[in-house]
Amino acid sequence: QQSREHILRTDKNEKNRALCSSLRINGDQKSDVYAQEKQDFVQHFPQIIRVLTEDDMGHSETGDAVDRLKEVLEYNAIGGKYHQDLMVLVAFWELVEPRKQDADSLQQALTVGWCVELLQAFFLVADDIMDSSVSRRGQIWWYQKLGMGLDAINDAMLLEVCIYHLLKLYCPDLEQPYYLDLIELFLQSSYQTEIGQTLDLIKAPQGNVDLGRFTEKRYKSIIKYKAAFYSYLPVAAAMYMAGIDGEKEHANGKKILVLSVQDDYLDLFGDPSVTSKVGTDIQDNKCGWLVVQCLQQAYQILKENYRQKEAKKVAQVKVLSEELNLLAVFLQYEENSYSHIMGLIEQYAAPLTPAIFLGLVCKMYKQKK
Ligand code: IPE
Ligand code: MN
Ligand code: MN
Repeated sequence: QQSREHILRTDKNEKNRALCSSLRINGDQKSDVYAQEKQDFVQHFPQIIRVLTEDDMGHSETGDAVDRLKEVLEYNAIGGKYHQDLMVLVAFWELVEPRKQDADSLQQALTVGWCVELLQAFFLVADDIMDSSVSRRGQIWWYQKLGMGLDAINDAMLLEVCIYHLLKLYCPDLEQPYYLDLIELFLQSSYQTEIGQTLDLIKAPQGNVDLGRFTEKRYKSIIKYKAAFYSYLPVAAAMYMAGIDGEKEHANGKKILVLSVQDDYLDLFGDPSVTSKVGTDIQDNKCGWLVVQCLQQAYQILKENYRQKEAKKVAQVKVLSEELNLLAVFLQYEENSYSHIMGLIEQYAAPLTPAIFLGLVCKMYKQKK
């Protein structure tokens, strides 16, 4: 009851407000707003490594495997933006009563944040194999490293099990009501993201460019499943940690899913020196936002140039996108979906404080990488 009162309090989080006003002015400022959280979060990583490599997994007979696990974690879990992970901390501060924000629960929030990062790392190691990507986060991607190859599949799976290992280690009191909620949440988010990846990967038979499948409806389902549910995961995790486990609250929260087309835009127009990765959507024949838009106007040109390996033909597709002035269409799209999401927050956020969802929205809009 008391925690419900805390949530209902209109005591707004200063940081979220600063974040939202900076968002509409300058997308870059928002990263500074969470500087302290980011520092706490990164400083917690050595402890994550320690607990994952020092416990009973570390019998001498598995020593070599544990060394490999350490290498996998250090290469793949570090160097991202940590946006989603920090949302666990931000939402945790916002939702948990101040008197319950003790050292132990802070450790738990930091750890759950790292679980979100490990889930991301797991997806990305596998995703880069499937998408034949060459770099990510400014470095050669893991499976491309000398001698790694498809062994990276097992490394991805190792990253995934670490999540459940950490949850168990940090919730030793399995009486904690949220332990089971968190396990179910991570499993559910994995399922939804994997369904999204499946939709994303379904291709026409070799040699065919089936433009008919690149529809707006299909595209929306792909980003909803492969990205939007995952972006809600940190908020849901913090809600469970704060004892908010009602079906209604979670169903409402899920309505405020951010369908961002940013990643797709950056795949084509992003500057690799900023995004730290090289786009592969065209070569991979992906149902991305840009191709759906292009189709409405340039069916024929696409038919001739899409899904071809030659650089000249790939370039044709990029030129076409510029000629169609898709940058302006993109900005308008962002603007419209921003208004739409703000409407949803107004309608469904109660009784939670809107700041939680505003934080989510802020993170997704005007994102540069
Ligand atoms: C990967 O999707 C994201 C996950 C589902 C984990 P994409 O393939 O579209 O993203 P990038 O461009 O490789 O980051
Ligand atoms: Mn990819
Ligand atoms: Mn992919």
